[in-house]
Order: sequence, then C-alpha cells, then structure tokens
Amino acid sequence: MPLMTTKPMFDLAYDGGFAVGAFNVNNMELAQAILDACAKEKSPLILQISKGARKYANIRYLKAIIDAGVAEYPDLPIAVHCDHGDTIDLINTCVKDGYTSVMIDGSHHPYEENVRLTAEAVKVAHAAGVVVEAELGMLGGIEEDVVGMDAHEYEKNVEKFLTDPNEAADFYKRTGIDSLAVAIGTSHGAFKFKHEAKLAFNRIEQIMKTCPGLPLVMHGSSSVPQEFIDLVNKYGGAMPNAKGVPEDQIAMAVQKYGVCKVNIDTDLRLALTAKIREVFATKPAEFDPRNYLGPGREALTKMVQRKLHVLNSAGKADVINKHWEKLGKPMPNYYGKGKAA
Ligand code: G3H
Ligand code: 13P
Ligand code: ZN
Repeated sequence: MPLMTTKPMFDLAYDGGFAVGAFNVNNMELAQAILDACAKEKSPLILQISKGARKYANIRYLKAIIDAGVAEYPDLPIAVHCDHGDTIDLINTCVKDGYTSVMIDGSHHPYEENVRLTAEAVKVAHAAGVVVEAELGMLGGIEEDVVGMDAHEYEKNVEKFLTDPNEAADFYKRTGIDSLAVAIGTSHGAFKFKHEAKLAFNRIEQIMKTCPGLPLVMHGSSSVPQEFIDLVNKYGGAMPNAKGVPEDQIAMAVQKYGVCKVNIDTDLRLALTAKIREVFATKPAEFDPRNYLGPGREALTKMVQRKLHVLNSAGKADVINKHWEKLGKPMPNYYGKGKAA
C-alpha cells in the first residue's frame, strides 16, 4: 500500500527534474479522476484536502473516498496532505485521521508568530512521523478558507510580499520544517494576473541558496488554460479576464529551478465546470447527474494527465516506490510504529 509521506517523493524530485502535483479533492469524482490520471501516467501524487473541503464533504465521507482510492491503486505512490491548515487543533486531527503530510499556514501572522505556530505544528506532526509544509511570504487570491488578498492588488505590490531568502533560512532553522511554500508571484484562483504573467524566478534561486536541501512548494499554480475559459464563457459562464501561470513557466520553475511540489485546484474546477456547462447547454433535457458528472470526470482526468506532463512526473512512480522501499517504507506512527501496516 504505497501511501507514504512526501519525503521519498521530494528526495528524488529535485535531482530528477520533476515536481509532484498536489491536487485538491472535494468529492468522489475529483478523487477518482486524479487517481485514474496518475495511474495512466504512472505518476506519484499528493491528494490534498483543504479546510473548505472538510466542511463541504464531511471529513468522514472524504476519508472513506480517499481510503478507497488508495486501496484501488496499490502501485501508486500517494501522500495525503492537509492544505492550508491553520491551527494546531486541525493539525492534530489530521494526524489522527491518518494524513501523511500537513501544511501549517501561518503566513498571514507576524513573522515571530508564524515561527512559533509552525514550530509547534512540527513538534506535533513529527512526533507521529508526519511531515510538515509551512509558508513564508504572502500569496494573493482568496479561497473559501485561505487567507490572501485580491489577486490584482497583490500583483501591484508583489515585491513586498515575496518570500525573503534570509528570513526563509532563519525560519527553516528555527522550525525544522520539511518543505516551504514560497511566495514568488503566484496567487490562488482564476484571476491571477491583470498584466503580464511573470514568476520571480530569481527569488526561487536565492531561496535555494539560503536554504539548501529544503524542498520548495508553489501554491496558486493553475494555468487557467484559455480553451477552458472559452468553453465556460461559450456555454453561459462569465469569466472574462481569467488568467493563470503559463505552463512553460511552471515547467521552468520545476525543471530549471527545482520546485518539488506544485498545487493545483483551480484548473480542476475549470475542467469540471466547463464540461458540465457544455452538457447542460447542448443537452437541455439531461437531468441524470451521472450523465454530466461522468463526462466532467473524464475532462478532469485529461486535465490531470496534462499537468503531469508539465510537471514531468509522468513515469516516476516506480523509482519513488523503490526509493521508499530502500528507506524502509517509513510511515506515520498512525499506521503502526513507524512502518507500513
Ligand atoms: O489553496 C486553496 C485551495 O484552492 C482550496 O480552496 O478553501 O475553496 O477549498 P478552498
Ligand atoms: P490554484 O488556485 O492556482 O489552483 O492553487 C491551488 C492551491 O494553491 C491550493 O493550495
Ligand atoms: Zn494554496
């Protein structure tokens, strides 16, 4: 059962020139599509669950769906991750629920408070063998339960929100985190840039230098492909001026600058919504949910497959499984004294 922490994945990602996709799960169709795509492409993956997802789906249902998915694909390297965790209570709950990785996001707090909160989360999670991602700097875009700021306001003032490389080194040393989400010009949602889409590659380079060996994570990494916006708009939607991070810039951040984890949610929402809108618009008499969620799930699978190629993670499942075995199949204590059950 290759449910694992992100360690075996990140160990190989940097040198291997690939990143692991972290895809947000909110319901069964999303989980099935993500897993199906990764199985087709033999790719490692991270299933991530936001606070909003826990609220929407009820964590019991979501956990059952994810457990079923993990059992269904015994050869896939999978990590289950808490996205944008904000309290120690939530981290504790996720550890008990069997997540193998958690994010504590204290980026909206003053620096010292972020250090304190993150160090406490690391203590709690590491005691159970669970790895921790934290965030430094500020991302734009506002999701249901994620603190940020209007993406266009963010774009105007982006320099002052980017992760400071020296602060990152201090943060790494004082918290003991396993990976760091960096602010390099991305933001959450479908409206990331009003002007030219541009990532601060030089920041990634500087942070790599001040924090050698620390895997870096890019949030807000959807590309918002124009053809999906066109479909949404064609079939009754209204998303003018939507814009994401161009896929060549994502590929560059991964292959040239060594980013190890790339978070994608918006592009999944877009693929599903565009397809459902198309079915409703072209078959107005359709009322069986299977006949619009089914095609929606197929569109999701294709979207995830496309992402796996951008991240260069297609075909990397086997090497990660082998590395995990070489490491002694370490698992969170939840699964039985630090070994896989
Ligand atoms: O980072 C944010 C993710 O897109 C989750 O969004 O809080 O609406 O589930 P959500
Ligand atoms: P997008 O909104 O760009 O998909 O980012 C998702 C994300 O960062 C989840 O943590
Ligand atoms: Zn995020």
